[in-house]
Amino acid sequence: MSTIPTAPIQIVRKKITTYTFQEKKKKREPISMLTAYDYSTAQILEQAGIDSILVGDSLGMVVLGYETTLPVTMDDMLHHCKAVARGANSPLLIGDMPFMSYQISAQEALRNAGRFLQEAGMDAVKLEGGVARLDAIRLIISAGIPVIGHLGLTPQSVHQLGGFRAQGKLATAGQHLLEEAHLLQDAGCFSIVLEAIPAKLAEHISKKLDIPTIGIGAGAGCDGQVLVTHDMLGLFNRFTPRFVKKYAESHGDLTRAFHEYIKDVENREFPAKEHCIEMKDVEWDKFISLLAKK
Ligand code: KIV
Repeated sequence: MSTIPTAPIQIVRKKITTYTFQEKKKKREPISMLTAYDYSTAQILEQAGIDSILVGDSLGMVVLGYETTLPVTMDDMLHHCKAVARGANSPLLIGDMPFMSYQISAQEALRNAGRFLQEAGMDAVKLEGGVARLDAIRLIISAGIPVIGHLGLTPQSVHQLGGFRAQGKLATAGQHLLEEAHLLQDAGCFSIVLEAIPAKLAEHISKKLDIPTIGIGAGAGCDGQVLVTHDMLGLFNRFTPRFVKKYAESHGDLTRAFHEYIKDVENREFPAKEHCIEMKDVEWDKFISLLAKK
């Protein structure tokens, strides 16, 4: 653990709910969301005053090192959701349903969605897709589980989309996205993530919907914004989408810190006196005389 003194920015807030999301949309107050996959990050995000934490299946890429999100399992997600729920309480906690946990049948989708709330302490679930997911979404919501939709670049369909590419750039694709957004709203979603679509289109969809949109690579006209925390911290450096604003250069900073530690160990400069556990002289003398008696 570092001993570098920090001045934490601590904002104590009451619980953010789906109702808060709705209120914020009405008052035109932007909603802030970031991803987290572990206890410490969740704690820091809560202390910083984030509205919502998404335990995204981006976990697969930025934490588990997969090429895509497709290998992520329910067990992976629940494990990390539990850690996040132990670290934060006041933000709205959203668990991302992994590939194949909601596509097979609406019943299976409901059973898996329920696990995010019952076992992992989440407040809501997110799942990708439009019209093809309506039955699953309706059934999940009918059980009292809030659902946030996800349209545009839906990473679980990366192979169908031909890569991680922007969506909705053609007029007909834009029209289709708007229709799907309405279908998700009508099915009862409390919000929709819009990923990698033109800013104009996202703004138009946001204005047409009563529920808030959360943009990632979708411009400033959305009702809220989300980023993958490892991207905005500059921690994940395999690639950085163009729409990411980096708020730190953690990859470089951590590399420097690790180098310094290695150097300190090699030069015997760590641990120093202040990192060592003291033993009183009297106890040490007793210890030596105990040895001498043997
Ligand atoms: O998995 C994730 O982190 C996401 C966000 C990119 C919205 O789905």
